Amino acid sequence: MTGRIALVTGGNRGIGLAIAKRLSSAGHQVAITSRSGTAEGAEGLLVVTCDVTDTDSVNAAVDEVEEKLGKVEILVSNAGITKDGLVLRMTDDDFGDVIDANLTGGFRVARRVAKGMMRGRWGRMVFISSIVGLGGQAGQANYAASKAGLIGLSNSLAKEFATRNITANVVCPGPIETDMLMELTDDQRETMLAMVPAGRLGQANEIAAAVEFLTSEDAGYVTGTVLPVDGGLSMG
Ligand SMILES: NC(=O)c1ccc[n+]([C@@H]2O[C@H](COP(=O)([O-])OP(=O)(O)OC[C@H]3O[C@@H](n4cnc5c(N)ncnc54)[C@H](OP(=O)(O)O)[C@@H]3O)[C@@H](O)[C@H]2O)c1
Repeated sequence: MTGRIALVTGGNRGIGLAIAKRLSSAGHQVAITSRSGTAEGAEGLLVVTCDVTDTDSVNAAVDEVEEKLGKVEILVSNAGITKDGLVLRMTDDDFGDVIDANLTGGFRVARRVAKGMMRGRWGRMVFISSIVGLGGQAGQANYAASKAGLIGLSNSLAKEFATRNITANVVCPGPIETDMLMELTDDQRETMLAMVPAGRLGQANEIAAAVEFLTSEDAGYVTGTVLPVDGGLSMG
């Protein structure tokens, strides 16, 4: 297969790092963003500093990837945060901060890399959403709205760029064993686990496997899709 140039936002840990390593093993040159500019366990990956809530920071990070590796051909928009709380107690800042990082962040990065993909007439964009974006979740109105928004963003990109051989797809992880899940209480985790038909938490590499397919040459006719990777949780 042809090695491509890939960028994974929030690739310094958790699901993002697993995706970056998997794409690297598949033969791609992979850059990851990290807010601190450092990343543990990122041997063989280019680490660039980036905060996706800041347009200048996004543009500078992609400039650096272009200088060091070349035009980004595969984008995995993975960076995300939670600021949970019940709606009646959720502040405007708690709502807006999560939308800014999870949804507008994805838009900023996609807009920056789209031009290069158009010129190269090849591109793959994958947005890491969540099953919470499909079904909603009490205490996560901000997060659910941001993750549902990624589906509208991705589908719109898929339509705008379909004739340029650029695809856009969404992966919706269920509960995956990372730092983000460990922020939940034991009770919250056990309640969620009880609802997963597979009866276990997912592993970051299981998300990475789905992303590897969606970013492959073979997936050129797969665009505008939403793929849950959730042990069956979202089937209801
Ligand atoms: N774990 C799950 O169960 C689960 C389920 C569904 C969906 N997801 C989604 O999967 C993605 C990865 O989750 P994870 O579990 O791997 O989370 P994580 O371990 O908490 O990692 C989050 C990543 O996002 C980065 N990030 C956060 N805000 C950022 C910003 N403003 N600019 C740039 N990078 C930023 C973090 O960078 P720093 O290291 O600098 O903080 C980190 O690399 C997220 O979008 C999450 O919503 C996770």
